[in-house]
Amino acid sequence: MSEIRSLSAVEILDSRGRPTLLAICQLSNGAWGQASVPAGASTGANEALELRDGDAQRHDGLGCLQAVANINGEINDALAGRRFESQADLDHFLIELDGRYNKARLGANAILGTSLAFCRAQASQRNAPLYAHLAQMAGLRPRLPRPMVNLFSGGAHAGGQVAVQDLQIVVPSAPTIGRVLEVTADVFRAAGKIVYDRYQMRLLTADEGGLAPSFESSERMLHAAVEAIEAAGYRPGLDVALTVDVAASQFCTDGSYHFDGAEQDAAGMTETIASWAQRYPLISVEDGLDQADWIGWQSLSARLAQKMMILGDDLLCTNPARIQRAIALKAANSLLLKVNQIGTLTEALTALRLARDAGWKVVVSARSGETEDDWLADLAVGWAGDYIKVGSITQSERLAKYNRMLVLEQMDGLSLSG
Ligand code: PGA
Ligand code: ZN
Repeated sequence: MSEIRSLSAVEILDSRGRPTLLAICQLSNGAWGQASVPAGASTGANEALELRDGDAQRHDGLGCLQAVANINGEINDALAGRRFESQADLDHFLIELDGRYNKARLGANAILGTSLAFCRAQASQRNAPLYAHLAQMAGLRPRLPRPMVNLFSGGAHAGGQVAVQDLQIVVPSAPTIGRVLEVTADVFRAAGKIVYDRYQMRLLTADEGGLAPSFESSERMLHAAVEAIEAAGYRPGLDVALTVDVAASQFCTDGSYHFDGAEQDAAGMTETIASWAQRYPLISVEDGLDQADWIGWQSLSARLAQKMMILGDDLLCTNPARIQRAIALKAANSLLLKVNQIGTLTEALTALRLARDAGWKVVVSARSGETEDDWLADLAVGWAGDYIKVGSITQSERLAKYNRMLVLEQMDGLSLSG
Protein backbone atom coordinates (compact mmCIF):
# COMPACT_ATOMS: atom_id res chain seq x y z
CA MET A 1 0.00 0.00 0.00
CA SER A 2 1.41 3.40 -0.98
CA GLU A 3 -0.11 6.79 -0.34
CA ILE A 4 0.79 9.44 -2.88
CA ARG A 5 1.79 12.83 -1.58
CA SER A 6 2.27 14.54 -4.92
CA LEU A 7 2.97 14.16 -8.61
CA SER A 8 4.86 16.67 -10.67
CA ALA A 9 6.53 16.89 -14.05
CA VAL A 10 9.06 18.86 -16.06
CA GLU A 11 9.45 19.20 -19.82
CA ILE A 12 12.91 17.92 -20.82
CA LEU A 13 14.62 17.12 -24.13
CA ASP A 14 15.22 13.69 -25.63
CA SER A 15 18.14 12.37 -27.69
CA ARG A 16 16.82 14.04 -30.86
CA GLY A 17 16.54 17.40 -29.10
CA ARG A 18 12.76 17.14 -28.99
CA PRO A 19 10.65 17.70 -25.90
CA THR A 20 9.44 14.91 -23.69
CA LEU A 21 8.66 14.82 -19.97
CA LEU A 22 10.10 13.66 -16.68
CA ALA A 23 7.61 12.80 -13.93
CA ILE A 24 8.25 12.71 -10.17
CA CYS A 25 6.15 10.78 -7.70
CA GLN A 26 6.46 11.51 -3.97
CA LEU A 27 4.90 9.10 -1.49
CA SER A 28 3.61 10.21 1.90
CA ASN A 29 6.20 8.06 3.69
CA GLY A 30 9.05 10.02 2.06
CA ALA A 31 9.94 7.51 -0.68
CA TRP A 32 9.96 8.91 -4.19
CA GLY A 33 10.74 8.06 -7.78
CA GLN A 34 11.20 9.78 -11.10
CA ALA A 35 11.13 8.61 -14.71
CA SER A 36 11.51 10.04 -18.22
CA VAL A 37 9.30 9.07 -21.13
CA PRO A 38 10.78 8.13 -24.53
CA ALA A 39 9.29 8.92 -27.95
CA GLY A 40 9.27 7.22 -31.36
CA ALA A 41 9.79 8.47 -34.93
CA SER A 42 8.17 5.53 -36.73
CA THR A 43 5.15 5.63 -34.50
CA GLY A 44 2.52 2.94 -35.13
CA ALA A 45 -0.99 4.04 -36.06
CA ASN A 46 -2.39 2.03 -33.15
CA GLU A 47 -0.22 3.45 -30.40
CA ALA A 48 -1.68 5.27 -27.42
CA LEU A 49 -1.63 9.00 -28.10
CA GLU A 50 1.44 10.98 -27.14
CA LEU A 51 0.09 14.43 -26.29
CA ARG A 52 1.99 17.25 -28.06
CA ASP A 53 1.14 20.93 -27.79
CA GLY A 54 0.86 21.56 -31.54
CA ASP A 55 2.05 25.14 -31.01
CA ALA A 56 4.16 25.79 -34.11
CA GLN A 57 5.91 28.66 -32.30
CA ARG A 58 7.56 26.22 -29.88
CA HIS A 59 9.67 23.17 -30.77
CA ASP A 60 7.93 22.84 -34.10
CA GLY A 61 4.66 21.93 -32.40
CA LEU A 62 6.25 19.08 -30.40
CA GLY A 63 6.15 20.76 -26.97
CA CYS A 64 4.91 18.69 -24.04
CA LEU A 65 3.73 21.53 -21.79
CA GLN A 66 0.11 20.38 -21.86
CA ALA A 67 1.09 16.83 -20.82
CA VAL A 68 3.27 18.33 -18.06
CA ALA A 69 0.38 20.54 -16.95
CA ASN A 70 -1.88 17.48 -16.85
CA ILE A 71 0.46 15.78 -14.38
CA ASN A 72 0.98 18.89 -12.27
CA GLY A 73 -2.74 19.65 -12.36
CA GLU A 74 -5.44 17.08 -12.95
CA ILE A 75 -3.39 13.93 -12.23
CA ASN A 76 -1.86 15.39 -9.07
CA ASP A 77 -5.27 16.65 -7.89
CA ALA A 78 -6.84 13.23 -8.41
CA LEU A 79 -4.01 11.15 -6.91
CA ALA A 80 -2.60 13.23 -4.03
CA GLY A 81 -3.68 11.79 -0.68
CA ARG A 82 -4.98 8.61 -2.30
CA ARG A 83 -3.70 5.12 -1.47
CA PHE A 84 -2.91 2.45 -4.01
CA GLU A 85 -2.49 -1.25 -3.30
CA SER A 86 -0.34 -1.95 -6.30
CA GLN A 87 0.88 -0.80 -9.70
CA ALA A 88 -2.25 -2.29 -11.28
CA ASP A 89 -4.44 -0.35 -8.86
CA LEU A 90 -2.74 2.93 -9.82
CA ASP A 91 -2.70 2.19 -13.55
CA HIS A 92 -6.40 1.30 -13.65
CA PHE A 93 -7.18 4.52 -11.83
CA LEU A 94 -5.21 6.47 -14.45
CA ILE A 95 -6.93 4.68 -17.34
CA GLU A 96 -10.33 5.56 -15.91
CA LEU A 97 -9.32 9.10 -15.14
CA ASP A 98 -8.32 9.58 -18.78
CA GLY A 99 -11.45 7.89 -20.03
CA ARG A 100 -10.38 7.45 -23.68
CA TYR A 101 -9.37 4.13 -25.21
CA ASN A 102 -6.07 5.59 -26.47
CA LYS A 103 -5.29 7.92 -23.55
CA ALA A 104 -5.76 10.93 -25.79
CA ARG A 105 -7.21 13.23 -23.13
CA LEU A 106 -4.41 13.35 -20.55
CA GLY A 107 -1.83 11.92 -22.97
CA ALA A 108 -0.07 8.55 -22.94
CA ASN A 109 3.16 10.40 -22.16
CA ALA A 110 1.63 11.95 -19.01
CA ILE A 111 0.09 8.63 -17.97
CA LEU A 112 3.21 6.55 -18.60
CA GLY A 113 5.40 9.08 -16.77
CA THR A 114 3.10 8.77 -13.77
CA SER A 115 2.97 4.97 -13.99
CA LEU A 116 6.78 4.68 -14.13
CA ALA A 117 7.51 7.28 -11.45
CA PHE A 118 5.09 5.49 -9.09
CA CYS A 119 6.82 2.20 -9.87
CA ARG A 120 10.20 3.65 -8.94
CA ALA A 121 8.74 5.20 -5.78
CA GLN A 122 7.30 1.82 -4.75
CA ALA A 123 10.63 0.08 -5.41
CA SER A 124 12.32 2.68 -3.26
CA GLN A 125 9.70 2.24 -0.51
CA ARG A 126 10.45 -1.50 -0.56
CA ASN A 127 14.17 -0.81 -0.66
CA ALA A 128 14.37 -3.04 -3.72
CA PRO A 129 16.29 -2.46 -6.96
CA LEU A 130 13.86 -1.49 -9.70
CA TYR A 131 14.39 -4.73 -11.64
CA ALA A 132 13.65 -6.82 -8.55
CA HIS A 133 10.48 -4.86 -7.87
CA LEU A 134 9.38 -5.32 -11.49
CA ALA A 135 10.19 -9.05 -11.36
CA GLN A 136 8.13 -9.44 -8.22
CA MET A 137 5.24 -7.54 -9.80
CA ALA A 138 5.32 -9.89 -12.79
CA GLY A 139 6.01 -13.07 -10.79
CA LEU A 140 9.13 -13.72 -12.88
CA ARG A 141 12.76 -14.56 -12.20
CA PRO A 142 14.96 -11.72 -13.39
CA ARG A 143 17.56 -12.38 -16.07
CA LEU A 144 19.60 -10.30 -18.47
CA PRO A 145 18.13 -10.12 -21.97
CA ARG A 146 20.51 -10.55 -24.91
CA PRO A 147 21.23 -7.23 -26.65
CA MET A 148 20.17 -6.63 -30.27
CA VAL A 149 22.54 -3.80 -31.07
CA ASN A 150 21.95 -1.31 -33.88
CA LEU A 151 24.74 -1.29 -36.48
CA PHE A 152 23.21 0.41 -39.54
CA SER A 153 20.13 2.56 -40.08
CA GLY A 154 18.02 3.82 -42.96
CA GLY A 155 14.34 4.72 -43.16
CA ALA A 156 12.84 7.14 -40.68
CA HIS A 157 15.90 6.88 -38.42
CA ALA A 158 18.41 8.10 -40.99
CA GLY A 159 16.93 10.20 -43.76
CA GLY A 160 15.60 7.28 -45.79
CA GLN A 161 18.69 6.33 -47.86
CA VAL A 162 17.38 2.75 -47.91
CA ALA A 163 14.00 1.39 -46.93
CA VAL A 164 15.06 -0.85 -44.03
CA GLN A 165 15.01 1.25 -40.87
CA ASP A 166 17.48 -0.59 -38.63
CA LEU A 167 19.87 -3.49 -38.81
CA GLN A 168 21.01 -4.99 -35.53
CA ILE A 169 23.64 -7.52 -34.54
CA VAL A 170 23.20 -10.25 -31.94
CA VAL A 171 26.03 -12.19 -30.35
CA PRO A 172 24.18 -15.46 -29.81
CA SER A 173 26.54 -17.49 -27.69
CA ALA A 174 28.56 -14.99 -25.67
CA PRO A 175 28.16 -15.89 -22.00
CA THR A 176 28.03 -12.36 -20.59
CA ILE A 177 26.83 -8.87 -21.46
CA GLY A 178 30.43 -7.77 -21.12
CA ARG A 179 31.52 -10.17 -23.85
CA VAL A 180 28.53 -9.26 -26.05
CA LEU A 181 29.57 -5.62 -25.92
CA GLU A 182 33.24 -6.44 -26.69
CA VAL A 183 32.28 -8.37 -29.82
CA THR A 184 29.77 -5.69 -30.76
CA ALA A 185 32.38 -2.96 -30.45
CA ASP A 186 34.76 -4.96 -32.69
CA VAL A 187 32.08 -5.30 -35.37
CA PHE A 188 31.10 -1.64 -35.01
CA ARG A 189 34.72 -0.55 -35.55
CA ALA A 190 35.06 -2.81 -38.58
CA ALA A 191 31.79 -1.43 -39.97
CA GLY A 192 33.06 2.11 -39.41
CA LYS A 193 36.14 1.35 -41.51
CA ILE A 194 34.05 -0.15 -44.32
CA VAL A 195 31.75 2.85 -44.30
CA TYR A 196 34.71 5.22 -44.41
CA ASP A 197 36.60 3.34 -47.15
CA ARG A 198 33.57 2.77 -49.35
CA TYR A 199 31.37 5.78 -48.78
CA GLN A 200 33.95 8.28 -47.50
CA MET A 201 31.71 8.75 -44.53
CA ARG A 202 32.96 9.40 -41.04
CA LEU A 203 31.26 7.98 -37.99
CA LEU A 204 28.24 10.25 -38.10
CA THR A 205 25.40 8.34 -36.62
CA ALA A 206 21.65 7.97 -37.05
CA ASP A 207 18.91 8.39 -34.43
CA GLU A 208 19.78 5.22 -32.53
CA GLY A 209 23.52 5.61 -32.97
CA GLY A 210 23.93 3.30 -35.97
CA LEU A 211 25.97 4.13 -39.07
CA ALA A 212 23.98 5.42 -42.01
CA PRO A 213 25.99 5.73 -45.22
CA SER A 214 24.19 5.98 -48.55
CA PHE A 215 23.91 2.25 -49.16
CA GLU A 216 22.72 1.48 -52.68
CA SER A 217 20.00 -0.80 -51.30
CA SER A 218 18.80 -2.57 -48.17
CA GLU A 219 20.50 -5.68 -49.50
CA ARG A 220 23.84 -3.83 -49.59
CA MET A 221 23.27 -2.93 -45.96
CA LEU A 222 22.89 -6.61 -45.07
CA HIS A 223 25.94 -7.43 -47.13
CA ALA A 224 28.05 -4.76 -45.44
CA ALA A 225 27.04 -6.14 -42.04
CA VAL A 226 28.33 -9.59 -42.99
CA GLU A 227 31.55 -8.03 -44.28
CA ALA A 228 31.97 -6.14 -40.99
CA ILE A 229 31.47 -9.33 -38.98
CA GLU A 230 34.11 -11.12 -41.06
CA ALA A 231 36.52 -8.19 -41.02
CA ALA A 232 36.31 -8.17 -37.24
CA GLY A 233 37.34 -11.85 -37.24
CA TYR A 234 33.98 -13.45 -36.41
CA ARG A 235 31.88 -16.06 -38.20
CA PRO A 236 28.56 -14.72 -39.51
CA GLY A 237 25.70 -16.67 -37.98
CA LEU A 238 27.82 -18.62 -35.51
CA ASP A 239 29.48 -15.78 -33.64
CA VAL A 240 27.36 -12.86 -34.75
CA ALA A 241 23.85 -12.97 -36.23
CA LEU A 242 21.68 -10.26 -37.77
CA THR A 243 18.20 -8.88 -37.18
CA VAL A 244 16.35 -6.24 -39.20
CA ASP A 245 13.58 -3.80 -38.44
CA VAL A 246 12.06 -3.25 -41.87
CA ALA A 247 9.47 -0.83 -40.41
CA ALA A 248 7.41 -1.46 -43.54
CA SER A 249 4.45 0.67 -42.41
CA GLN A 250 6.70 3.65 -43.13
CA PHE A 251 6.83 2.97 -46.86
CA CYS A 252 3.50 1.28 -47.55
CA THR A 253 0.53 3.11 -49.08
CA ASP A 254 -2.70 1.31 -49.94
CA GLY A 255 -1.02 -2.09 -49.94
CA SER A 256 1.87 -0.98 -52.15
CA TYR A 257 5.41 -0.96 -50.75
CA HIS A 258 7.80 1.68 -52.11
CA PHE A 259 10.85 -0.40 -51.42
CA ASP A 260 14.33 0.85 -52.41
CA GLY A 261 13.05 2.64 -55.50
CA ALA A 262 10.66 -0.09 -56.71
CA GLU A 263 7.00 -0.91 -56.05
CA GLN A 264 6.18 -4.26 -54.48
CA ASP A 265 3.06 -5.90 -53.10
CA ALA A 266 2.99 -7.92 -49.86
CA ALA A 267 3.86 -11.12 -51.71
CA GLY A 268 6.87 -9.41 -53.26
CA MET A 269 8.06 -8.14 -49.86
CA THR A 270 7.63 -11.63 -48.44
CA GLU A 271 9.77 -13.02 -51.29
CA THR A 272 12.44 -10.41 -50.64
CA ILE A 273 12.54 -11.23 -46.92
CA ALA A 274 12.58 -14.98 -47.59
CA SER A 275 15.52 -14.55 -49.95
CA TRP A 276 17.42 -12.55 -47.31
CA ALA A 277 16.70 -15.34 -44.83
CA GLN A 278 18.36 -17.81 -47.19
CA ARG A 279 21.44 -15.74 -47.84
CA TYR A 280 22.12 -13.85 -44.61
CA PRO A 281 22.37 -14.99 -40.98
CA LEU A 282 19.06 -13.38 -40.05
CA ILE A 283 17.38 -14.52 -36.86
CA SER A 284 14.58 -11.94 -36.70
CA VAL A 285 12.51 -9.76 -39.01
CA GLU A 286 10.54 -6.94 -37.41
CA ASP A 287 7.62 -5.25 -39.19
CA GLY A 288 8.37 -6.92 -42.50
CA LEU A 289 4.91 -5.83 -43.65
CA ASP A 290 2.47 -3.03 -43.01
CA GLN A 291 0.69 -2.64 -39.65
CA ALA A 292 -2.74 -3.26 -41.24
CA ASP A 293 -1.77 -6.20 -43.45
CA TRP A 294 -2.93 -9.10 -41.23
CA ILE A 295 -3.23 -11.48 -44.17
CA GLY A 296 0.24 -10.63 -45.45
CA TRP A 297 1.63 -11.26 -41.94
CA GLN A 298 -0.07 -14.65 -41.89
CA SER A 299 1.67 -15.65 -45.13
CA LEU A 300 5.00 -14.24 -43.95
CA SER A 301 4.71 -16.25 -40.73
CA ALA A 302 3.61 -19.41 -42.52
CA ARG A 303 6.70 -19.07 -44.65
CA LEU A 304 9.34 -18.13 -42.07
CA ALA A 305 8.14 -18.52 -38.46
CA GLN A 306 9.80 -21.94 -38.12
CA LYS A 307 13.15 -20.41 -39.01
CA MET A 308 13.21 -17.06 -37.31
CA MET A 309 11.46 -14.49 -35.17
CA ILE A 310 8.58 -12.76 -36.93
CA LEU A 311 8.55 -9.75 -34.68
CA GLY A 312 5.59 -7.38 -34.42
CA ASP A 313 6.17 -3.75 -33.50
CA ASP A 314 3.70 -1.46 -35.35
CA LEU A 315 1.51 -4.50 -36.02
CA LEU A 316 1.00 -5.15 -32.30
CA CYS A 317 1.74 -1.83 -30.57
CA THR A 318 2.11 -3.69 -27.24
CA ASN A 319 -1.69 -3.77 -27.32
CA PRO A 320 -3.27 -6.85 -25.71
CA ALA A 321 -6.20 -6.92 -28.16
CA ARG A 322 -3.90 -6.79 -31.19
CA ILE A 323 -1.60 -9.44 -29.71
CA GLN A 324 -4.59 -11.75 -29.15
CA ARG A 325 -5.60 -11.26 -32.74
CA ALA A 326 -2.08 -12.02 -33.98
CA ILE A 327 -1.94 -15.18 -31.88
CA ALA A 328 -5.31 -16.34 -33.22
CA LEU A 329 -4.29 -15.62 -36.82
CA LYS A 330 -0.74 -16.99 -36.39
CA ALA A 331 0.42 -13.68 -37.83
CA ALA A 332 3.63 -13.39 -35.75
CA ASN A 333 5.68 -15.32 -33.19
CA SER A 334 7.39 -12.55 -31.22
CA LEU A 335 6.43 -9.35 -29.43
CA LEU A 336 8.34 -6.09 -29.49
CA LEU A 337 7.40 -4.59 -26.14
CA LYS A 338 7.44 -0.79 -25.85
CA VAL A 339 5.54 0.42 -22.81
CA ASN A 340 4.83 3.87 -24.22
CA GLN A 341 2.89 2.30 -27.10
CA ILE A 342 0.21 1.26 -24.62
CA GLY A 343 0.81 3.80 -21.85
CA THR A 344 0.90 1.92 -18.53
CA LEU A 345 3.09 -0.77 -17.02
CA THR A 346 0.06 -2.88 -16.15
CA GLU A 347 -1.22 -3.08 -19.72
CA ALA A 348 2.31 -3.79 -20.96
CA LEU A 349 2.49 -6.67 -18.46
CA THR A 350 -0.77 -8.06 -19.83
CA ALA A 351 0.78 -7.87 -23.31
CA LEU A 352 3.88 -9.71 -22.08
CA ARG A 353 1.81 -12.47 -20.46
CA LEU A 354 -0.28 -13.02 -23.58
CA ALA A 355 2.88 -13.35 -25.66
CA ARG A 356 4.48 -15.74 -23.19
CA ASP A 357 1.35 -17.90 -22.93
CA ALA A 358 1.46 -18.29 -26.71
CA GLY A 359 5.10 -19.39 -26.53
CA TRP A 360 6.35 -16.21 -28.18
CA LYS A 361 9.74 -14.57 -27.79
CA VAL A 362 9.80 -11.08 -26.28
CA VAL A 363 12.09 -8.19 -27.26
CA VAL A 364 11.95 -5.25 -24.83
CA SER A 365 12.58 -2.09 -26.82
CA ALA A 366 13.56 1.53 -26.37
CA ARG A 367 12.36 4.27 -28.72
CA SER A 368 14.43 6.22 -31.19
CA GLY A 369 13.92 9.31 -29.02
CA GLU A 370 15.40 8.27 -25.66
CA THR A 371 16.77 9.90 -22.53
CA GLU A 372 19.58 9.13 -20.14
CA ASP A 373 17.09 7.35 -17.88
CA ASP A 374 17.87 3.63 -17.54
CA TRP A 375 14.53 2.22 -16.31
CA LEU A 376 14.16 0.23 -19.53
CA ALA A 377 17.14 -1.97 -18.59
CA ASP A 378 15.48 -2.84 -15.27
CA LEU A 379 12.21 -3.52 -17.04
CA ALA A 380 13.83 -5.85 -19.56
CA VAL A 381 15.68 -7.66 -16.76
CA GLY A 382 12.78 -7.80 -14.30
CA TRP A 383 10.35 -9.01 -16.94
CA ALA A 384 12.91 -11.49 -18.26
CA GLY A 385 12.93 -10.39 -21.90
CA ASP A 386 14.69 -12.67 -24.36
CA TYR A 387 16.26 -9.65 -26.04
CA ILE A 388 16.68 -5.94 -25.43
CA LYS A 389 16.76 -3.47 -28.34
CA VAL A 390 18.02 -0.04 -27.34
CA GLY A 391 20.16 1.07 -30.27
CA SER A 392 23.89 1.31 -30.79
CA ILE A 393 26.87 1.63 -28.45
CA THR A 394 27.87 5.19 -29.23
CA GLN A 395 25.35 7.44 -27.49
CA SER A 396 24.82 7.83 -23.78
CA GLU A 397 21.03 7.51 -23.88
CA ARG A 398 21.63 3.98 -25.27
CA LEU A 399 24.66 3.20 -23.11
CA ALA A 400 22.73 4.10 -19.96
CA LYS A 401 20.82 0.85 -20.53
CA TYR A 402 23.79 -1.34 -21.51
CA ASN A 403 25.87 0.04 -18.67
CA ARG A 404 23.09 -0.63 -16.19
CA MET A 405 23.04 -4.25 -17.35
CA LEU A 406 26.82 -4.47 -16.93
CA VAL A 407 26.38 -3.34 -13.34
CA LEU A 408 23.58 -5.84 -12.71
CA GLU A 409 25.69 -8.60 -14.25
CA GLN A 410 28.70 -7.88 -12.10
CA MET A 411 27.15 -6.62 -8.86
CA ASP A 412 23.91 -8.59 -8.64
CA GLY A 413 25.17 -11.75 -10.31
CA LEU A 414 22.37 -11.92 -12.87
CA SER A 415 22.91 -14.19 -15.84
CA LEU A 416 22.32 -13.67 -19.52
CA SER A 417 19.38 -15.16 -21.41
CA GLY A 418 20.50 -18.25 -23.40
P1 PGA B 1 10.71 4.32 -33.13
O1 PGA B 1 11.57 3.15 -33.73
O2 PGA B 1 11.01 4.44 -31.69
O3 PGA B 1 11.15 5.47 -33.96
O4 PGA B 1 9.26 3.96 -33.38
C1 PGA B 1 11.95 2.00 -33.05
C2 PGA B 1 11.41 0.80 -33.76
O5 PGA B 1 10.74 0.94 -34.79
O6 PGA B 1 11.59 -0.30 -33.28
ZN1 ZN C 1 10.25 -1.23 -35.09
